[in-house]
Amino acid sequence: MKYQNFYQESIAHPEQFWSEQAKQLDWFKVPKNILSKDAFNYNQWFEDGELNLSYLCIDKHINDGFGAQNAIIYDSPVTNTKQHITFNQLHHEVSKLAGGLQGLGLQKGDTCIIYMPMIPQALYAMLACARIGVIHSVVFGGFAPHELAIRIDDSKPKVIITASNGVEIERIIPYKPFVDEAIEKAKNKPERVVVFDRQLGVEIPNKSYDINYTTLVAESPSVAPVSVKSTHPSYILYTSGTTGTPKGIIRDTGGYATALKFSMKYIYGVNEGETFWAASDVGWVVGHSFIAYGPLLNRNTSVLFEGKPIRTPDASTFWRVISEHNVKAMFTAPTAIRAIKKEDPEGEFIKRYDLSCLKYQFLAGERCDVATLTWAEEQLGIPVIDHWWQTESGWPMLANMVGVDLQEIRPGSAGSPVCGYDIQILDEDGEQVESSVEGYVAVKLPLPPGTLSNLWGNPERFKSGYLDRFPGYYFSGDGGYKDEDNYVFITGRVDDIINVAGHRLSTAEMEEIVASHSDVAECAVFGVHCELKGQKPLGLVVLKSNETPGKQQTIQKEIIQDVRKEIGAVASFRDVLVVNRLPKTRSGKILRKLLRNIADEQQYNIPSTIDDVSIIEEIKTVYQTHKIGIHN
Ligand code: COA
Ligand code: AMP
Repeated sequence: MKYQNFYQESIAHPEQFWSEQAKQLDWFKVPKNILSKDAFNYNQWFEDGELNLSYLCIDKHINDGFGAQNAIIYDSPVTNTKQHITFNQLHHEVSKLAGGLQGLGLQKGDTCIIYMPMIPQALYAMLACARIGVIHSVVFGGFAPHELAIRIDDSKPKVIITASNGVEIERIIPYKPFVDEAIEKAKNKPERVVVFDRQLGVEIPNKSYDINYTTLVAESPSVAPVSVKSTHPSYILYTSGTTGTPKGIIRDTGGYATALKFSMKYIYGVNEGETFWAASDVGWVVGHSFIAYGPLLNRNTSVLFEGKPIRTPDASTFWRVISEHNVKAMFTAPTAIRAIKKEDPEGEFIKRYDLSCLKYQFLAGERCDVATLTWAEEQLGIPVIDHWWQTESGWPMLANMVGVDLQEIRPGSAGSPVCGYDIQILDEDGEQVESSVEGYVAVKLPLPPGTLSNLWGNPERFKSGYLDRFPGYYFSGDGGYKDEDNYVFITGRVDDIINVAGHRLSTAEMEEIVASHSDVAECAVFGVHCELKGQKPLGLVVLKSNETPGKQQTIQKEIIQDVRKEIGAVASFRDVLVVNRLPKTRSGKILRKLLRNIADEQQYNIPSTIDDVSIIEEIKTVYQTHKIGIHN
């Protein structure tokens, strides 16, 4: 099969194409209505179909005779644990936890927050929710109680499932106390908190709403999967937007299952029974799609890794895991490869392992620089494939579809459009631009199955944020260009979102926190280049009064602490500089893009609307003094 034909088929006849793909699933009720419009006149897939994700990920494989196959391999260098979990065992854990959750009063359509580290119980919790039609919302463990509280108030969960703690290298991260603090802050109080005690000697504060996870599972009956509509939300996943409030991306069930099954086969090139590893976290979309649901739907063994690419214990960990667990295709962020390259530039660790099982290395989550891609290609001797997608899409939009046929790899490009995505580069007026011309990356509607169906409780923001900018298109928020062969090069966000180590963060949210410090008169937070993490946030502040250097330092430390406390350690907010003034337009708008471009030594035009051009030299001097930007 040729990629071009397959792709063209998906664009020319989307209904036919996706109804064929949907046949790969075991539906409780096979859909007849393939593509229709919802109440917001937006596409919805397989409206009259019914199915259950937990059934497809577990029961189906047992029914097919694969109960003894490993479903999950939990590999945790931070706790020295390795655990192989078969589909039979997964069934036992998930169906009893689902029974327990039902016993706590959770019903189809209710919401449940999962705030857990990378342990099997996190996957059990997701699958248990799916089993009974409960809409889960997994919150990344690196977020602070304040962020968790925002998500509690928005999704209003009846129950939160958590664990005693996480482990970051050798540091214990208190999860349960964070949940208690978040509940304290939230207006909407959940009824119950189910706590998994990791037995790592961490004291768990006792609250009246607590339920012990292990006891709950032991004492509850197994329950069967319930049938849900294809359009039933399987989960809400919050992601950073351009304001301080995160957006709750809603994912459907039937379209998602179809897209993931398709992805495993045609994008990642893995067959049933093979092992797949996405080195991410269940709190991100990668974790939802390619640690949990995708591999399990496709009867792959999914590796659940609790560690880092380096320091757990060293830069050989990835290669050990691949070789030990016979991984066929692996997915990580370019940052992880950069971190490994820094520790092991000659690839000495790589040579020590038999990596013949590994056929493809996938990278995504942030822009992949050519040097990183080339280094990985040279060291591994296999195709290293950059591909592009977002929380919103739920699965890749640009890739090299190796399961169809491997195309030439063009470093710097995230590949060609994946089946179903009619990707266009538009100018300000929504007109398609010529090849090599940079513009806004948009996808012609309808989007294929599995992409976002709306924003939780905020359809207006959904419409204004994604659909109104270019009528007839979904606007991705990224800029980029195509070459003459339809390879797309993503150049970065065109809004206030930044990507730090593959983690999506909002500078607007950080700016709100910095601005609320009592000594700050005004400020700007924006992303600058970082050799390791791709980008990092930088804050410039103007203080209300002239302070001594000592007092300035104290204020800087307080600001950094405030951001860490409100958003979490994951923000990696470590640089705040005091400046005398900020460049603005005559109407008072801070020129953040200019500040960023100067730091990154990018070409910049001085806007004619700037109120005082002399400030540019002042800013350059501050950057040079503090070694900010490209030469950091
Ligand atoms: N729970 C609690 N805290 C967490 C956390 C979690 N799940 N994940 C990260 N953090 C904390 C870290 O401990 C760190 O805290 P610190 O400032 O006190 O040291 C902070 O958040 C920043 O974490 P991170 O961005 O991971 O940086 P790092 O310096 O600890 O590690 C790398 C650097 C390169 C090893 C790491 O960023 C990495 O593995 N990147 C790969 C990216 C990736 O997998 N992205 C997923 C998207 S596909
Ligand atoms: P998230 O929603 O957290 O997955 O982040 C999505 C954003 O990450 C995208 O909008 C891009 O800005 C960026 N991104 C993801 N993958 C890539 C890639 N392969 N190349 C460039 N940017 C990427």
